[in-house]
Amino acid sequence: MSKTVYCQKPEAYLDTLSSVVCSPSFSSTSFHYTLYSFMLPIQLIMANIPPPQAQQVTVAESWCSPGPAAYDLRTDTITTPTLAMLQAIAQTTLMDDVYQEDPTTNEFEKFMADLTGKEDSLLVLSGTMGNQIALRSLLTQPPHAVLCHPRSHIVHSEAGGVATLSQASVQFCIPANGRYLTLEDIKRDVVISNNIHVSPTRVISLENTLAGVITPLEEVRRISQFARANGIKMHLDGARLWEAVAAGAGSLTDYLECFDTAQMCFSKGLAAPIGSILVGPKTILEHCRWVRKSIGGGIRQAGIIASAARVAVEQNFGRGPSGEGGRLRDTHTKAKQIEKMWLDRGGITSRPVETNMVWLDLPHSGITADQVVRVGKEEGVKLMGGRIVVHHQVVDEALVRLERVFERLLASEKKTNGVVHEGQSVYR
Ligand SMILES: Cc1ncc(COP(=O)(O)O)c(C=O)c1O
Repeated sequence: MSKTVYCQKPEAYLDTLSSVVCSPSFSSTSFHYTLYSFMLPIQLIMANIPPPQAQQVTVAESWCSPGPAAYDLRTDTITTPTLAMLQAIAQTTLMDDVYQEDPTTNEFEKFMADLTGKEDSLLVLSGTMGNQIALRSLLTQPPHAVLCHPRSHIVHSEAGGVATLSQASVQFCIPANGRYLTLEDIKRDVVISNNIHVSPTRVISLENTLAGVITPLEEVRRISQFARANGIKMHLDGARLWEAVAAGAGSLTDYLECFDTAQMCFSKGLAAPIGSILVGPKTILEHCRWVRKSIGGGIRQAGIIASAARVAVEQNFGRGPSGEGGRLRDTHTKAKQIEKMWLDRGGITSRPVETNMVWLDLPHSGITADQVVRVGKEEGVKLMGGRIVVHHQVVDEALVRLERVFERLLASEKKTNGVVHEGQSVYR
């Protein structure tokens, strides 16, 4: 189904109005919707009278708020772009970014460098591309190694890119506290040596948040000081650093001054359709641009990506340095609510809820991931096992349905006694 939208100058108000006109009750009874001046009385909008000189755009219903992910709690990558993003795309410049001639992209890269307190930034197509390009550019030649948490996305879910692109070995470092890496963990596993039998650690790669858990700023500072004192580069997979910052763990600039390079995703909780930003020093990013080209990541009309990403940052992360005015904090509150719903019924969680992820300890309750998926489906909410991820497009009704799922799983469903694994999924 599609909708006709009349747009004049809409970025700021489109989102607000879309939440009115695209509400389930409205959409079920209306065929055409008219959006125009923010000041226009809602009655006029409801009467579907197009404004003078308005431009008519027909959009698929999936662009309207809250979007197709309203009952999907499997992951935040499932979020969908908003009408405001579509509007920004419609108004972007369309110059060539391989030639670095696109004003929207150039301004956005400058905006991101300023926002993060880094010298430069580079738009990339995905978080994976950002991580792998950064590692390739920080490393020189083998033998060399990257030290990281064993659950790190860079080794776990990036198709072996550290090996194929950088020819680096990986040194796993397991946090003694079971949550996040500390300097003591790093010192235990780092390899600083000229002994020709070893592969020296050249990069420490942290992920923050990792599985929704925050690495505290103080700890990152300690690790960074140690790394710098020993000539080791620091990379951050900050796909969800936005979440840590919105939770009040520290500002973007506080965190990012501890790293040489960092990538941050726009297409997770921030809901852009595509893209990540890589930030760091100019010299490193010049090399990153080169590597990006070599793997087919040179983008032509990049304004299409940059314009939507900017809306994602300004509206969904928020305009304040710690996500003030954005939409992430509310998702953390909802995650806490979900945790409470589970705990109140006798369940336990395997990790603390610090941001937007809730980890149900299914084995403890004798429940399988398959049961969770099945009961979720029956109640009309998409789940994939013990990990529940909240994003800003999740509607309140989804939590009501989830409560019914918990009720059934913990009270009346037949429990299994077998060994149960945490939900394994391709959704990250
Ligand atoms: C922590 C983390 N880093 C990197 C990525 C990679 O992002 P992309 O899917 O855009 O390549 C993901 C994807 O979910 C992720 O969760």
